[in-house]
Amino acid sequence: MPISWRDAMAIGDPKVDDDHKKLVNLINAAETLAAQAQFAAMPALLQKLVGYCQDHFPREEEMMAGLNYLDIEAHKGQHVQFSRKLQLIVDKYATLKSEGEQKQCCTILINFMNDHFVNHILKEDLKLKPFVRKPAAALGVSLLSDVAKQSDEDLAKRRAQRNRDVEYQLPPYLSHLLQRLEYFVPELPPPSSDYTSFDKLCEAAICRRIDKVLVFFHRSNPEVVRELPIFFLGSPEFAAKFREAVSKLVFPVIWESRQVRMMSTSFDWTGVDDENFWDHLKPILKETILNAWAEGWDQLKLVENRKEDGTKVLQVKEQTKLLRSILQPSDPSVYDLPKIANREIETFKSLLDTATDWWAKLNSAWQIVTDIYEQEKDPRVFQQKAREGALRDNLLEVFNRFPEIWGDFLVLACHRIFPRISTTFLESFTTNFGRNEKEREAYVPYTMRYLEQVRAHPEIRTRERKEEEQWQEQMKQLRNYLSGRTPADQPPGAKPG
Ligand SMILES: [Fe+2]
Ligand SMILES: [Fe+2]
Repeated sequence: MPISWRDAMAIGDPKVDDDHKKLVNLINAAETLAAQAQFAAMPALLQKLVGYCQDHFPREEEMMAGLNYLDIEAHKGQHVQFSRKLQLIVDKYATLKSEGEQKQCCTILINFMNDHFVNHILKEDLKLKPFVRKPAAALGVSLLSDVAKQSDEDLAKRRAQRNRDVEYQLPPYLSHLLQRLEYFVPELPPPSSDYTSFDKLCEAAICRRIDKVLVFFHRSNPEVVRELPIFFLGSPEFAAKFREAVSKLVFPVIWESRQVRMMSTSFDWTGVDDENFWDHLKPILKETILNAWAEGWDQLKLVENRKEDGTKVLQVKEQTKLLRSILQPSDPSVYDLPKIANREIETFKSLLDTATDWWAKLNSAWQIVTDIYEQEKDPRVFQQKAREGALRDNLLEVFNRFPEIWGDFLVLACHRIFPRISTTFLESFTTNFGRNEKEREAYVPYTMRYLEQVRAHPEIRTRERKEEEQWQEQMKQLRNYLSGRTPADQPPGAKPG
């Protein structure tokens, strides 16, 4: 099967890429000669291949030295090995007399070249790609901190690159392994300016900003099996109930604020919609609305009292009971919400920030996390590979970019979308937050709560183990196929994925 060169195979250095293209041509030429039984022409081709090694390897090694590439010595070792084995084949071929022997030797040569192409160029040489383009970047990984520096153009290029990755062809029983992760990402409705008063416009603008956080968490992947109900922020039903709670319990507090009332009278809201509302507001009015919002939630908090005997009790106000009843799911399987206490009220409060629109930031962070998930956990051969632990490190970095409590939800969202972010991954991820459960609960309370529920359902772990075994089996089949050990049709006894 001839190899066709694709942009995704390039490392970004024109000379090195030209060399690799020449090698592809030599591999294809060797296959053609062998297929046409032109064995007499083979020594000339072998000499070209020897010439390729003599030109290409020093060129690539010089480039690596210039990039201060850490793995240079191991990489050079692979070049030496390839050159030595090639010389053995060249010497052997010169001694062969019969066509049968020459044919056999050609098959060995073609397998050897293909193996070098797949296991050296597409794996080892491609590791140089991030250094060629961005010398400071970590191997194969873009950290979230790079996002801020990326222009729209960079992101567009990156997307185009991502989409090219899937052009590679695998036999049908493995082809699903190269497909990009597909899942449903809901979008916000277009902005509206159809409001009859400042109050209504302001309320709609607040709801839209909250929706920008909630809708982000509504992404879902029907292909991924998750037995337990979704965390409350991920549920559209919760979003509807939350809006109801806000209009009944928090908006009245905002409109009671004399400052908001006074400042809103001088606001010219012609041509303003619920999206650009915040751009038309003076910073002081934004801050005043945010303070009133926080005040509305703080009033709902549980108050600590002491009984006569000195024991502490948390007093729940009538309004808080109302909040609890509004936010209850229609059925426990729809979403998981702990009994609302002060931590939950803090979470609800964090959903509005009148100074920051989180939508773009959340989506950029998600894009990077998705890329790294695919680079670390997905087998597609022509993409950069991330080191083990890269996903964990990036998720930890997420915690610093958003209100602290959202990190927990982002990790749970990954679990809902990415098939290999299992509860075992979550379990080991939470160990970054403390030495024992109590310590961890302070940082990732909702993930800890989720894991506690998982423990009551041993069948979840059984399913995950089975899925991981199937996955490893498919990886074995993929490796065997790529190294030429199995033919393009389905290997005997293997179950289709
Ligand atoms: Fe190379
Ligand atoms: Fe190389």
